[in-house]
Amino acid sequence: MTEPNRAEPPRETYTSRLSLVLTMLGVAVGLGNVWRFPYMVGRFGGAAFVLVYVLAAVLLGIPALVGEWALGRYARRGPVGAFERAGFPKGRAVGWFLFFVMFAATGYYINALGWVFYYGVGQAAQLVGAPWAESAILPPATGFEPRSFILQMVFTGALILGCAAVLLRGLRAGIERASQILIPALFLSLLVLMIRALTLPGAGAGVAWFIGKFEWTAFTPRVVAAAFGQVFFTLSLGGTMMVIYGSYLKPEDRLPGNAAITVAGDTASGILAGLAILPAVVSLGLLSASEPDLIFVVLPRVFAAIPFGRLVGLIFFLGLLGSGFLSAIAAWEVQVAALTDNTRLTRRQAVWWLALLIFLIALPPMPNQKIFLAWDLTFGSGMQTLGSLLAVVALCWCMDRATVLREIGGPAPGLAIRLLYLWLRYAVPFLILLVGLWWLASEASMNT
Ligand code: ALA
Repeated sequence: MTEPNRAEPPRETYTSRLSLVLTMLGVAVGLGNVWRFPYMVGRFGGAAFVLVYVLAAVLLGIPALVGEWALGRYARRGPVGAFERAGFPKGRAVGWFLFFVMFAATGYYINALGWVFYYGVGQAAQLVGAPWAESAILPPATGFEPRSFILQMVFTGALILGCAAVLLRGLRAGIERASQILIPALFLSLLVLMIRALTLPGAGAGVAWFIGKFEWTAFTPRVVAAAFGQVFFTLSLGGTMMVIYGSYLKPEDRLPGNAAITVAGDTASGILAGLAILPAVVSLGLLSASEPDLIFVVLPRVFAAIPFGRLVGLIFFLGLLGSGFLSAIAAWEVQVAALTDNTRLTRRQAVWWLALLIFLIALPPMPNQKIFLAWDLTFGSGMQTLGSLLAVVALCWCMDRATVLREIGGPAPGLAIRLLYLWLRYAVPFLILLVGLWWLASEASMNT
């Protein structure tokens, strides 16, 4: 363990507690909540999945989030620097490895966000009666489709410029400001959507299916593994984004309370998204289509079929775009900070170099969904789980206990903080390993 040099140039910090929470929600809430969570609920049996997911968010999500923030705040670094300063063997190499994981993940995540952007523009066009090829941007299942590829390059390229514009302004004037606008806007849009969905005829059946009917047979190992995996994805746990955002915390910011609020807000957005989407899907009898393309194929059909549907669709895709945009910014900030903290590049130079490189790395997953899903599985699920395991091990097994207790619970940590430390040291790595192995086994058995 190498003590960080406290005489380093001052680091930017969050302006206020509210702003801190909104920014952390910006990292967490994204495509994972509005796209991935509802379709997983659909695929994995409704209420049983929701229940396991909430348990996982409390047992694993809150402690792991506290752990990643503590690591970042202690080291005053993102992954490149934090693992080394925590004393993790070959910590610098591990940090750079996670940098490259995040780089690859940004490439495919920003692609999916490009589809959302296209759909948002499409809803606006159809609202004013303009013709629009609704799903032209979606990559084909296999092979190559030039029109889809070109559209993806254009929409992803535009988003990359948008992210760069925010990142150039730094934490307070860029990332915090954007989060203060986009997160309240997302919650508002989800509320409007939920009201629209719940007032459709037959919506009650959808709600009952979503959160009301528990069937014990639905609690299978696959459901449990999927729900735990979703917690990593949605909370952006992976030893990267939450570590760098943790490095901007002030020494006096309380970690457990802020983590609990962040996890509660993130879970609430998933539940709201489920209530906004699933009743409408159920009421139109489209539930069987609860697959990854739920929001790109099924929802546009829902919007076309319900009163005020195009307007609702526009609000939906804009809300989704805003929240996913903030998550993409977080993924990118990991890389910007790695370059500014560890090389002589200025923030401006780092942002522009990365803009070019992220555009290039976004190209390989564009041709078809088979390649895209392989990237999601590798860089979105598998590597994130590994990264969060490494982060917890760095904190609880490489750093000394007194330092970690102080980082988590302040100068006089009480019994609850000591228990949280023990939970983080023993139970969380065990749970992560178990879920990772379960997930590997179930994926392997599905693919054979
Ligand atoms: N946590 C981010 C999301 O849910 C990556 O989309």
